[in-house]
Amino acid sequence: MGVEIAVSGLTKQFGSQLIWDDVTLTLPAGEISVLLGPSGTGKSVFLKTLVGLIRPEKGSILIEGQDIVRLRGDDLYEIRKLFGVLFQDGALFGSMTLFDNVAFPLREHTRKSEKEVAAIVHEKMDLVGLTGAEKKLPGEISGGMRKRAGLARALVLDPEILLIDEPDSGLDPVRTSYINQLFVDLNAQIDATFLIVTHDINTARTVPDNIGLLYHKHLAMFGPREMLLSSEEPVVRQFLNAQTVGPIGMSEEKDAEELAAESGQELPPLPPIPLQLPTSDRTPRRAERGAGVWCRDNGITPPPGSFASTTAGVPGVRHGVGA
Ligand SMILES: Nc1ncnc2c1ncn2[C@@H]1O[C@H](COP(=O)(O)OP(=O)(O)OP(=O)(O)O)[C@@H](O)[C@H]1O
Ligand SMILES: [Mg+2]
Repeated sequence: MGVEIAVSGLTKQFGSQLIWDDVTLTLPAGEISVLLGPSGTGKSVFLKTLVGLIRPEKGSILIEGQDIVRLRGDDLYEIRKLFGVLFQDGALFGSMTLFDNVAFPLREHTRKSEKEVAAIVHEKMDLVGLTGAEKKLPGEISGGMRKRAGLARALVLDPEILLIDEPDSGLDPVRTSYINQLFVDLNAQIDATFLIVTHDINTARTVPDNIGLLYHKHLAMFGPREMLLSSEEPVVRQFLNAQTVGPIGMSEEKDAEELAAESGQELPPLPPIPLQLPTSDRTPRRAERGAGVWCRDNGITPPPGSFASTTAGVPGVRHGVGA
């Protein structure tokens, strides 16, 4: 069932530009975590660092007792087989059909026959709603379709760890709901450890077991969903409720004058914590915690109206993303 990823003291710089400093967090095995943060805070760089494509200056990333930061050559190649990655831009090969793009990891990393490859490719393309588009080239389809093709490719090796960079950018709201349902159902089926980068606040509030927030070159907070959704910490509160009042300004941090102008303003109360999105058939995921359990165990009173069934995500959405 999935594997734990323990990140400790991770620091990344490009030349003199510090991206983030001393990031420490553990992605629990088999759980869904979401990573949030203003544009440019280094979320994509973080995902690429986890998979060993970018080398940090300091820190460690432990997976099954091995430190990705220190692996080279064949060892790195081997451990990468644990990962399925959907890059922010889809990263499809422009001259290959969608079928060949999705088949690529299978042909590269396994000895499966072409018949077996075809069966897996068709299954995963169906899962993301791309049946019938197998012969298209990436340049001939919409941005949302490219995202979904990238997702199908990330799934073909039945990964232990899924890193997904903005699956919802370029998707319409209905497909975003389908994709969110797909993640929850997939997590129940394959028990992989998920890390999803998103700007969609509804996704962040309803899908994950854990939420992390990168802000101002460090990890502002990482923990269970209910911990962040009940947090009064100004940056967390502002971001998770998409508010303009708070320390985050249009160009990252507000200056003293802007903050002073806000100082008398009353913050709106924290909205109710929604129920977590259940699996389509309502069977609990292994990582699922009961609604309100974290708050109760930690002596936190959730905002009024929390965990009412009317605050859940889109109800009744079924498997598959539609054509
Ligand atoms: N290979 C690279 N070389 C130099 N700088 C880079 C490289 N990759 C990313 N950066 C810089 O790192 C910073 C963080 O970029 P990143 O793409 O991780 O942001 P992000 O949080 O994913 O933003 P967004 O929400 O817009 O996708 C940016 O300033 C970017 O220019
Ligand atoms: Mg990014």
